[in-house]
Amino acid sequence: MTHHATAPREPLLPPSPLTRARDLIAEAHRIVALTGAGISAESRVPTFRDAGGLWRNYRPEELATIGAFERDPRTVWEWYEWRRGFLATCKPNEGHRALARFFLRRGEEGIVTQNVDGLHTRAALEEAGDGPPDAALPIEIHGAIARDRCNDCGLRAEAEPLGDDDTLPRCADCGGMRRPDVVLFGEMLDSALLERAHNMAARADLCLVIGTSAVVYPAAGIPLATLHAGGRIIEINPQDTDLTRAAEVAVRGAAGEVLPELLA
Ligand code: APR
Repeated sequence: MTHHATAPREPLLPPSPLTRARDLIAEAHRIVALTGAGISAESRVPTFRDAGGLWRNYRPEELATIGAFERDPRTVWEWYEWRRGFLATCKPNEGHRALARFFLRRGEEGIVTQNVDGLHTRAALEEAGDGPPDAALPIEIHGAIARDRCNDCGLRAEAEPLGDDDTLPRCADCGGMRRPDVVLFGEMLDSALLERAHNMAARADLCLVIGTSAVVYPAAGIPLATLHAGGRIIEINPQDTDLTRAAEVAVRGAAGEVLPELLA
């Protein structure tokens, strides 16, 4: 009897996290994504808590707080003016673009961001070309640095450059103090935006958590809304976070490299 030499069976390796994540995405009906500073790291926007992150140069209590703004609006304005100037030199990266294309293809909005850098919006407009960008426009739960808001009447307006004299920007309507349209430490988030984001996450069966340390609430509670509704979480981050143990799959890598592959 001849024995047919059979090739030794390859040990069946477990599927890679990327493969498992792709399978979960293929099966999902409604998907939301929560992004943080990490998705903008490859656009050279400093994160908050990474070594060398933004806060390394300043203590948050000094600058990005409503108390500091009321005590010393000029200093806070100058810091935001510096940040606006810096952000004007940054561009959306392949992570922003892949995410925008993904939601444009699905035709259903799903991006919630903690970032105020406006890069998701720019990616949506650029990827949509002359089509509608709506499905890729983010819910900006911490606001948008490129916009001003009146501290008194809430009127929103396009940002204007800070005068180099000591006058501070005033509201065109009520003459109140204008400030960047971002949530400062010590302030409440816009409850309507937060509720919209929360409801979207609660209706989703999959939440992609991208580039956030998931330590700041209520934002970090958004993926939990998907989880508590029976959905699952995929984490895209080079490192573990507070949310890793709640993730079905953790894809360890940079958003700019992982997302184009994961969402193709
Ligand atoms: N791709 C993906 N993730 C990355 C990358 C990258 N290239 N580089 C860093 N990260 C991850 C880090 O591992 C970290 O988990 O991004 C996360 C950045 O975390 P933070 O700096 O804490 O930023 P974020 O989670 O957005 O902070 C939340 O805190 O300071 C407030 O209002 C501010 O919106 C901010 C909120």
